[in-house]
Amino acid sequence: METKYKRIIIKLSGEALSGKVGFGIDPPTVQRICESVKEVFEQDVEIAIVVGGGNFWRGRFGEGMDKSTADYMGMLSTVINALALQDVLEQMGVPVRVQTAIEMKEVAEPYIRRKAVRHLEKKRVVIFAAGTGNPFFTTDTTAALRAAEVDAEMILLAKSVDAVYDSDPEVNPDAKKYDRLTYIDVINQGLKVMDSTAITLCMDNKIPILVFGLDQPENILKAVRGETIGTIIEE
Ligand code: GTP
Repeated sequence: METKYKRIIIKLSGEALSGKVGFGIDPPTVQRICESVKEVFEQDVEIAIVVGGGNFWRGRFGEGMDKSTADYMGMLSTVINALALQDVLEQMGVPVRVQTAIEMKEVAEPYIRRKAVRHLEKKRVVIFAAGTGNPFFTTDTTAALRAAEVDAEMILLAKSVDAVYDSDPEVNPDAKKYDRLTYIDVINQGLKVMDSTAITLCMDNKIPILVFGLDQPENILKAVRGETIGTIIEE
């Protein structure tokens, strides 16, 4: 079967792994996501995954908490998610290498760009953990950064909603769904798809972003086949 893309970044939020439970890791949900990743992998697509950590840690303890400390806690929570994904994917026979942006070499390889590219060429799924390794940067920004670094053709941004809307579709039943947006539209309209650092990084490096819902994990396969789902953000 023809796929439109050869190398992609899949951004999974931490929340995507907690399913309906809403916290931590929901094994059946992770299983379903990994089955979809495997299907895409079997189409000869090179896959790197950037995973968030919001299922374990979001924000801070009240206003008093130091922002950097809170962000480091978030980065550590992404490592837990990366190891869970690695475990499930490997049990399915998909080779995986986890690389962390904060060195913890007893746990996983450190992030080395050239090695990541080599793993992708050797048909291993690479999971990028610990964000960019810096506080004040989100895992969406990590996805944009890694996509630029490894020359990925697009970012698949898996969300809990199925596309980008002009207002929250859960609050406003008349919310308008967008099929296509430009980076500038997203910035000017203040659409809450990605933070502005992430979106400008994609804009500067001309990396398209496909926003889609992960409630149907087979959407990942549809997306790499170039089927029209969700919202595409490009030039
Ligand atoms: P090639 O060199 O392309 O064959 O890649 P490879 O990943 O198979 O070889 P390597 O010898 O680098 O790694 C073997 C295994 O050790 C893989 O599962 C790696 O993820 C793991 N590994 C490599 N470096 C580190 C590290 O610094 N820390 C940890 N924890 N694991 C590592």
